[in-house]
Amino acid sequence: MKIIAGNWKMNGSRDSLVHMVTALQDIDSKNTVILCVPYTMLGVDGGRVAIGAQDASAHDHGAYTGEVSANMIAATGAKYVIVGHSERRQYHGETNDIVRAKAAAVIAAGLTPIICVGETMDEKQAGKTMAIIESGVRESVPNDANNNVIVAYEPRWAIGAGLTPTDSEIADAHKLIADTLTSMGLGGTPVLYGASVKGTNAAQIMSIPNVDGVLVGGASLKPDDFIPIITSVK
Ligand code: 13P
Repeated sequence: MKIIAGNWKMNGSRDSLVHMVTALQDIDSKNTVILCVPYTMLGVDGGRVAIGAQDASAHDHGAYTGEVSANMIAATGAKYVIVGHSERRQYHGETNDIVRAKAAAVIAAGLTPIICVGETMDEKQAGKTMAIIESGVRESVPNDANNNVIVAYEPRWAIGAGLTPTDSEIADAHKLIADTLTSMGLGGTPVLYGASVKGTNAAQIMSIPNVDGVLVGGASLKPDDFIPIITSVK
């Protein structure tokens, strides 16, 4: 059984989410399906699909205009929150320390964070991929996460670009993440791969050792694109 998570980023509407969850109700799959949607769509009944958010404040409540706390997200019935997505790191200056604080707030609210790590093209070309991944995991995942956490490897240069690393690059990255989590006392934590996943490459990517599922951006927006990913693995 795999975890198939969609990240809608800043796309969609409540109507398109209802359309999607309706289309997903009767598909023949035992995989866990998660859709992480904009805040304004939280509260839509996902049925067999677990609903998640895409960010949460590190703070519980107070004078933080524009922020939404993990407790507020939990109150909508959502179960997951993406934290540290590369677009948050790139456009909002989120560091590993900020990501860890947000992940801790998500866990404290009884939700599961999906913590993203991954290297930029500059870091890849400088030969720093493995170092960035390892420090990303060590510094972004709370040590006391108590196995209520998911990690996603998203090579930042491959997101939305139609590019994917080679199978052996994905295998090396996922083995490093699994080993790092084990050394932190978090062995068995699911590790997802994300960046340019689609129906045509999902099964192959999920056959790579230590790949426990996928985090899908663009191809999670329409049932015709998302369903083949979910059903590509039994
Ligand atoms: P794409 O699947 O569109 O490359 O996006 C990946 C991603 O950022 C998921 O969080």
